[in-house]
Amino acid sequence: MQFAVLSLFPEMFSSPFSQSIIGKAVEKGLIGIETHQLRDYAEGRHQVTDDTPYGGGDGMVMKPEPVWRGIQDMRQRYPQAKVVLMTPQGRMFNQAEARHLASHEALVFVCGRYEGFDERIRSYVDAEYSIGDYVLTGGELPAMVVIDAVARLVPGVLGNAGSAGQDSHSDGLLEFPHYTRPVEFNGQHVPEILLSGNHAHIDAWRNKQQRERTKARRPDLWQQYMQQQPPQDGIKD
Ligand code: ADE
Repeated sequence: MQFAVLSLFPEMFSSPFSQSIIGKAVEKGLIGIETHQLRDYAEGRHQVTDDTPYGGGDGMVMKPEPVWRGIQDMRQRYPQAKVVLMTPQGRMFNQAEARHLASHEALVFVCGRYEGFDERIRSYVDAEYSIGDYVLTGGELPAMVVIDAVARLVPGVLGNAGSAGQDSHSDGLLEFPHYTRPVEFNGQHVPEILLSGNHAHIDAWRNKQQRERTKARRPDLWQQYMQQQPPQDGIKD
């Protein structure tokens, strides 16, 4: 799967994507991540990418031409790509959206700075995403978040094929608690059931933990989950 990024700060992407699981996936050729300097698409000696807002007000606005040229270039390089704009006004990104984006062959991320994009740029992208109801200084960190969440769903990126399927949110519930050695740590013990070797009982315990955790910590998710899947016989919540 190919990821391409248009940004005024492409260097921001080098460290996070050269390490650990994503770094290895790039090395193995399972995914490709390339960054493009938006300024390269600006004209004139100074390659200006921002300007003052019509109508007055604080801050600067990203000029439409360089962003539009960048998007056109990306569409030429990756005709099958979905072009995504990162903005706090976008659709809320979540695990279901990550799965949807992972079904594409290529994704192009357009990262803004300053007060945002000239409104007319919106008509040239396929989707707009926000990573949460807060405002960051630019779209780069949000793009990294989305790329990381999508890349780990690409087959082969996570060593253990099962591990993405058990994540928090993958089935609409939070994950069950994990333990490793030692069996006792500062007076806290690993639950007996996990030492029992009875996998049917362990699965049932983990499922119960998932449900209880989600209900206690994320009543919003719990409500959604229950609307999608009415309680099965014998399981009380
Ligand atoms: N750019 C600035 N803040 C953002 C956010 N929360 N999500 C996506 N893009 C952004």
